[in-house]
Amino acid sequence: MCGIVGYNGSSNAAEILLEGLSKLEYRGYDSAGLAVRSGTNDVVIVKAKGRLRVLAEKTNDGKALKGTLGIGHTRWATHGEPSENNAHPHVSDDRNVVGVHNGIIENYQELKEKLLRHDYTFYSNTDTEVAIKLIDYYMKKYKEGPIDSIARAMTRIKGSYALAVIFKDYPEEFYVARKDSPMVIGIAEGASFIASDVPAILKHTRNVYYIGNQQIARIGKGTVEFFDIDREPVELQMEEVTWDAEAAEKGGFEHFMIKEIHEQPKAVKDTLNAFIKDGRIDLSEAGLSDEYIASINNVTIVACGSAYHVGLAGQYVIEKLVRIPVRVDLASEFRYRDPILNADDLVIVISQSGETADSLAALRLAKERGVSTLGIVNVVGSSIAREADHVFYTLAGPEIAVATTKAYSAQLAVMYGLAVQFAKVRGQIDEETYAQLIAEMETLPKKMERVLEDKERIQWFAAKYSNAKDMFFIGRGIDYAISMEGSLKMKEISYVHSEAYAAGELKHGTISLVEDGTLVVGVCTQNSLYEKTRSNMAEVKTRGAYLMGLTSYGNYAIEDTADFTVYIPRTSEYFATTLAIIPLQLLGYYLSVARGLNVDKPRNLAKSVTVE
Ligand code: F6R
Repeated sequence: MCGIVGYNGSSNAAEILLEGLSKLEYRGYDSAGLAVRSGTNDVVIVKAKGRLRVLAEKTNDGKALKGTLGIGHTRWATHGEPSENNAHPHVSDDRNVVGVHNGIIENYQELKEKLLRHDYTFYSNTDTEVAIKLIDYYMKKYKEGPIDSIARAMTRIKGSYALAVIFKDYPEEFYVARKDSPMVIGIAEGASFIASDVPAILKHTRNVYYIGNQQIARIGKGTVEFFDIDREPVELQMEEVTWDAEAAEKGGFEHFMIKEIHEQPKAVKDTLNAFIKDGRIDLSEAGLSDEYIASINNVTIVACGSAYHVGLAGQYVIEKLVRIPVRVDLASEFRYRDPILNADDLVIVISQSGETADSLAALRLAKERGVSTLGIVNVVGSSIAREADHVFYTLAGPEIAVATTKAYSAQLAVMYGLAVQFAKVRGQIDEETYAQLIAEMETLPKKMERVLEDKERIQWFAAKYSNAKDMFFIGRGIDYAISMEGSLKMKEISYVHSEAYAAGELKHGTISLVEDGTLVVGVCTQNSLYEKTRSNMAEVKTRGAYLMGLTSYGNYAIEDTADFTVYIPRTSEYFATTLAIIPLQLLGYYLSVARGLNVDKPRNLAKSVTVE
């Protein structure tokens, strides 16, 4: 996820672009850049690594850059580490085409090879540079204008993009194109604005166009013309934005957390797409060859908080599918435990931020012991990503709410990919099961959307129990791992005391806390354990608990025990966590809202814990 802006008018572009980017920094903040021009002068490009203020300082808040037309970008790295070199805008070899991009170009390697064969050179590791050079290539090959060249490039590019492009020989305008990445175009008297999100232009205009998928636009000074991918003109309806700026920044959602909960299907889809190619799992980007996978004898997963819970769910999936021992450790414990590690172990460190102090220390310890390490990280170029021997990036985009949701789901998707591929390479599953599991994984984003459609029921339930004091989450196997994450979500944002228990363990002490009205959530997604957990639910019910059941459609007998039931679509038992966690995230969220708490920034917590 990145943010893009553009301006064409009569004021100083750089100042307007920087101001717009400041509203989009939530979309990415590892580097930023601007390209501006005045008249037929050459385009001037300035980039800076780090937060937007570094670019602002470098350009004296934009005043040092003269020009009335320009484009800008704030980056969240996906291809290529955060650096000035990889920052946008990117340029073609002779500066004929200059552009910024938000999205992921899935076939960029193949396109890059094509361009290399035509003597193009590359200075960055980005997919964007490939897109810009592809447009330049078509412009030169067919000697056509911007619309034709962009359209030709669009027919070759697979993936998602919102592009804004300046052409050397077209000084009065710039061009945009979009597929599956957001873009809004604002029109005012004598000036046009483009941005990835409405807040970046609201200060200047409320009259906007939402450019359609696979459409192109020519942006003049206060004018815009639209074209489809066949280069035919299309008419779009101008709309008026009636929201206020703050609401718009959250895409119409009340909080970042609920926005990010809704972004989960996309986060999972993007992450799966990064390693499932033509129906097979390809782990080569993380440098995990089949020979290497076959040589691993033990897996140790180390992480903190929710990332640790991903490890716990992953442990069940890997052990069941791959049949190798998996140990899961809290990073803060692992680092002081003097852990027993062998040369043929793999240590997996899971971290959204890639900067968590304990997780980083655990990674360093494993490396000191000569053990191979794999980082599953969301922030490209973060410390864990840089230091791990192998890196697997989750493509969740920047997460703003302190309580993780979409990064957690993307991390789970990676665990599934590892488990299924390890099982195949090590001969634990046959070709048919392999294909079935991959096909099932690919259905998850759609099924997640279905779970989200049911959110009103959870909202109602949360409102009813907003005064709850204690809560228990119980489950067995993977359902226990789900319970732990559900419980953490509840306590961290709602401040309701909650505990997760292995359902069969409850009666060894904790059940004495259950009294009339105590809220208990029973998680039952695993067929073989369903009846067992249901009888544990019955045990607490006879002691007065109010029971919420969480299970798959079809298990309707749960209603004989539970007072309130939430159903999720059926999926492979290995992947149930991805669907079952959503109602629990929603429960924590709506309870926090009902209690009037600061959902996105709960007390005493920080997004990235860089101290011990
Ligand atoms: C809980 C949460 C934390 C993090 C933990 C690890 O909602 O967000 O428990 O999961 O602090 O952070 P990362 O993944 O950045 O290492």
